[in-house]
Amino acid sequence: MQIWTVVNQKGGVGKTTTVISLAGLLAQQGKRVLVVDTDPHGSLCYYLGVETETLERSLFDLFCHPDQLTTASCQAVILPTAIERLHLLPASTALATLDRTLGAQLGMGFVLGNALAQLAGRYDVVIIDCPPVLGVLMVNALACADRVIVPVQTEYLALKGLARMVATFEQMAHGGRRTVNFTIVPTMFDRRTKASMQALSALARSYPQQLWHSVIPVDTRFRDASQAQLPPPQFAADCRGVAAYRELLDELLEQA
Ligand SMILES: Nc1ncnc2c1ncn2[C@@H]1O[C@H](COP(=O)(O)OP(=O)(O)OP(=O)(O)O)[C@@H](O)[C@H]1O
Ligand SMILES: [Mg+2]
Repeated sequence: MQIWTVVNQKGGVGKTTTVISLAGLLAQQGKRVLVVDTDPHGSLCYYLGVETETLERSLFDLFCHPDQLTTASCQAVILPTAIERLHLLPASTALATLDRTLGAQLGMGFVLGNALAQLAGRYDVVIIDCPPVLGVLMVNALACADRVIVPVQTEYLALKGLARMVATFEQMAHGGRRTVNFTIVPTMFDRRTKASMQALSALARSYPQQLWHSVIPVDTRFRDASQAQLPPPQFAADCRGVAAYRELLDELLEQA
């Protein structure tokens, strides 16, 4: 079971879109996929037609009883979705309180990893969506990741956010946790604009090792898919945005 974490401290860069696109593609390929929504806003849940307000259980419950994680208690939180082989570990607004209540407690960085360990063998790939906030949830998502994917919007401001994110990876590495190997995925790329082209060259200069060789283009079908509450590959399998994510997935699987 591979664990992939999609993360960036900057908001609106395409994290959730990346998670749901890769997950939809994996499910189409016959893989068993679990997506984990760690964002208290629950955008990933919304994408999959799950209303977080009405849920009896969520990821929050696992954080409330970190010493009592069992396969059964973790499975009890997971929901099937309309997509075959695609399951969801849902968020709830209560997750927003975690930093205040649990953040400083020792060992709280490994709750999600311990929960996913209970599910080993049940999924081929787990993909974790993060909120754009450096806190206990992001630390948990990074601590258990086999691979970290950093979507970066191809515009100037997004690059500044990326430098902060990379500094966080380094801090985590120095804190005795494992090194974070990450792949930068340029998103919302529009080759007609100077801003996109400049941002891409800046990324290539600053992160030659980590930058994915291709880009995710700007594609209005992503917004349409979220409105239809379907993963983009299930909504519009042939659009160019999905084709780009397919290329990314091929590479991720090759390196897995
Ligand atoms: N390649 C793309 N082309 C066009 N629109 C896109 C693309 N990727 C994402 N979007 C749209 O941009 C918006 C933000 O994307 P998304 O929700 O994936 O970002 P995010 O990083 O998860 O945001 P947040 O930090 O708020 O969680 C959404 O409306 C989404 O449909
Ligand atoms: Mg999001």
